[in-house]
Amino acid sequence: MRDDILLGADYLRAGKLVAFPTETVYGLGADARNPEAVKGIFKAKGRPTNHPLIIHLAEAEQMRAWAKTIPETAWQLAEAFWPGPLTLILPRADGVPDVVSGGLDTVALRVPEHPVALELLNAFGGGVAAPSANRYGRVSPTCASDVREELADKVDLILDGGRCRIGIESTIVDLSSSVPRLLRPGSVTEEMLGRVLGNTLVSASKTSMRYPGSSSSHYAPKARVVITACDEVDQRLHEWEQRRVRAGLLSSLFEENISDCRDASGLISEEAQAYALYQALRAADHLGLEVVVAVLPEERGIGCALRDRLLRAAGLG
Ligand code: TXA
Ligand code: MG
Repeated sequence: MRDDILLGADYLRAGKLVAFPTETVYGLGADARNPEAVKGIFKAKGRPTNHPLIIHLAEAEQMRAWAKTIPETAWQLAEAFWPGPLTLILPRADGVPDVVSGGLDTVALRVPEHPVALELLNAFGGGVAAPSANRYGRVSPTCASDVREELADKVDLILDGGRCRIGIESTIVDLSSSVPRLLRPGSVTEEMLGRVLGNTLVSASKTSMRYPGSSSSHYAPKARVVITACDEVDQRLHEWEQRRVRAGLLSSLFEENISDCRDASGLISEEAQAYALYQALRAADHLGLEVVVAVLPEERGIGCALRDRLLRAAGLG
């Protein structure tokens, strides 16, 4: 693995694309200082060029190279949650290529926790721009074979670091204006952020500003995702069956085999659901399901992030 990581760092220096594991999902990385390399990311994903990318760093100190100003709250959040699944939006430093930030005057920064990501970042030495390593609008990859399925020959190297521990994308907090705003919920929850920021955080639901790439119909499998109340699941599945539509249930168990797992409903933690979510949505496609019936988890902890992703997968985000 060490040799692969060093090769990855060489590839990044050569302007190539390297997919790598993080604790959230796999990223598709390029040298953030190399506009041509970063353009390759947009091309490989089929992503609109006005959607800004997260720059991954080896340590918090490197924020100084990318952010024009760094509020005290950024250092506090970095101290509390980095390395880890939190992305900070800060005013953009001069010299950051336009293509990375989609022309915005802010940048997104994150120090990931996965050992392979950290080793790659340390070996490379600079910032690595990386969105999730999926085609635009599709489900994020949580293992190396997902990346292969999504991008195949469009990526120069895939570093295989096993399955991602968390399974959904990082929490994004915007610190570029006077009040901190939660732009994307994730496994660093509002409660956890509140312990550092006090009650100053404006939550996602109250934010009128929608982050680029937060359009509805995101994180979507090929199957149609239908959100259903818990007590209507049986009736819904029956309806689809009568119409000869291949439907399956994504219950709170989110098993690989996504049908018939209602009995365990409520017994599995929201963390375990997050870990399994994208694998289950992919499994639905592999099974050739046309419809996935899903029940939203409770709105607490990482459950908020799960609801966000499921609603987007259903095109209701
Ligand atoms: O967990 C993650 O964050 C993963 C791993 C690979 O680090 N990355 C990821 O990247 O989810 P991506 O590109 O799929 O999602 C990043 C989100 C996008 O919705 C983008 O619009 C938002 O971050 N973003 C990036 N820069 C921004 C900025 N300056 N202002 C507001 N939103 C920004
Ligand atoms: Mg993405």
